[in-house]
Amino acid sequence: MRTVENSLSPSKTQAPSLFLERMQFFYELFPYPNRPIFLKPNPKGSIDAHAGFAQILAGNSEIPAGSRIDDLQLRDVRHAFSINKRIALVGCGTDEPLLFRTLHPHNPMVAIDLSHRSLLRAERKIRWHQLKPVTLVHGDAETVLKREGLFDHIQCFGVLHHQPHPKKLLKTMAESMNSGGTLRLMIYSSNGRRLERGLQKKFNALWRDILPHVSEQQPSSKMIKLKITWASLKLLCWRLLLPVAASSAKSGRFRYIGLSRARVADALLHPSDHALSLRDTLTWAGKYGLRLVSFRAKSYDLGWMEAHTHLQTPLQTLVAEEERGNISTNIVLVFQKVGSI
Ligand SMILES: C[S@@+](CC[C@H](N)C(=O)[O-])C[C@H]1O[C@@H](n2cnc3c(N)ncnc32)[C@H](O)[C@@H]1O
Repeated sequence: MRTVENSLSPSKTQAPSLFLERMQFFYELFPYPNRPIFLKPNPKGSIDAHAGFAQILAGNSEIPAGSRIDDLQLRDVRHAFSINKRIALVGCGTDEPLLFRTLHPHNPMVAIDLSHRSLLRAERKIRWHQLKPVTLVHGDAETVLKREGLFDHIQCFGVLHHQPHPKKLLKTMAESMNSGGTLRLMIYSSNGRRLERGLQKKFNALWRDILPHVSEQQPSSKMIKLKITWASLKLLCWRLLLPVAASSAKSGRFRYIGLSRARVADALLHPSDHALSLRDTLTWAGKYGLRLVSFRAKSYDLGWMEAHTHLQTPLQTLVAEEERGNISTNIVLVFQKVGSI
């Protein structure tokens, strides 16, 4: 594993650096999603995560005659993305390197994360399953990407809405893509997470308290870790009791979190989970030469809203639903790099 020097600048005190330091502190404590090491992803169940799937959506590769997007098989998507093409996993967490190495057994692959512990777990998982190593780089993706050359596919799931400057990370990703390359992005719905953000606010003071200590390797940081760990245990108990103590609507609303401490902390204790507007994200993407080729999200009223290259559900409908706070899932967007910045 490599560490990109100075990418975390712990001595600087301006807001963006502290922002990243807090997030790093959080993900060192709660590596995400941290599934058990022996669970091997089934590539046939994750065809839509394959870079070849994104290439087909982008129209760079043909769908086999007589097939529809939903019928694509692993061999079709593998055919659409040759083994010398480069993949970057931005904010890869503990499990994405394993999933992507399973989907792409031979492609050059760089996985980047702020959390050293997450990368160690990712590395252990790949070794356990005896797969070809992935290049793991510890640091801030914005800095790391600038040093890693161009990619043909970038996966960035659950990361952009945590950034101090999401627009800058999106721009850096666009600049790091070969023409025709694809970006698969997942962002939270900005209004749909109001309840989660309301709960997170209750822990603001905790995060504010620990701010001056975060970057220091002092005994006091042990106390800070204890306080946050204690808060996460209380939240886990709350989550466990929800089905018996709350209405079925409220309990159902939080069911997606599951029962793992990492997931409970990620949803309810996060120090930097900010509302990111879908409209702004799409505007920035257009400015950076990224063409939207697919989107997928679920609306409470309209059900699944999904569209590929020839966008069936109008994009305006998705944006309007998102602005009404009516999206019940995360939003998955696939872009193709078409222009220069
Ligand atoms: C919610 S987790 C998502 C993990 C993974 N993408 C997934 O979907 O399973 C967010 C991850 O992004 C990492 N991260 C956040 N901001 C980052 C940045 N600026 N550079 C590198 N990693 C970052 C965090 O450390 C964390 O592991």
